[in-house]
Amino acid sequence: PADPRLQGISDAIRVVPHFPKQGIMFNDITTLLLRPGVFKDAVDMFVERYRGMGIAAVAGIEARGFIFGPAIALAIGAKFIPLRKPKKLPGEVISETYVLEYGTDCLEMHVGAIEPRERVLIVDDLVATGGTLCAAINLMERAGADVVECACLIGLPKFKVFRLSTHESDILSKVSN
Ligand code: PRP
Repeated sequence: PADPRLQGISDAIRVVPHFPKQGIMFNDITTLLLRPGVFKDAVDMFVERYRGMGIAAVAGIEARGFIFGPAIALAIGAKFIPLRKPKKLPGEVISETYVLEYGTDCLEMHVGAIEPRERVLIVDDLVATGGTLCAAINLMERAGADVVECACLIGLPKFKVFRLSTHESDILSKVSN
């Protein structure tokens, strides 16, 4: 049986049609953040899954992976690594470019943030095509990390690639390979 907290989490996420452009159904997690009990339920469900797994680092993807990632990292006793959009980090970086519907984007991480063979969990709010998560996995693996899983709140069923759940707004996770 499904965890009863999932329904509350699903109900707290606002779906906004035609944002940021025509035809896009935007899943807005800011409404969930306004409800501390539901926000806590979401973080708790991730923490229950990932504590005790020897995870040394949580890597959060800009921007909304920065909301959930640090809360999970603190609760499981892991360090937090921000994976940032280009030209935001001041130190030496390792970069991974990925293809979007129109053009490309890039994720960057500070060199030295992760040690070879450290176990890392990657966190974002949502997976659509999976392009962003795949770039994050590639980046971490190029740095020598062992990617344990990727964790997202929402999986959009529109795309076939890397769809992690048949239901929107489920707590999702998937082994990277
Ligand atoms: C959204 C979302 C994921 C990504 C998922 O971020 O937060 O990071 O898209 O899409 P994908 O599975 O097709 O790669 P967005 O591109 O809106 O960037 P932002 O969080 O910086 O606004």
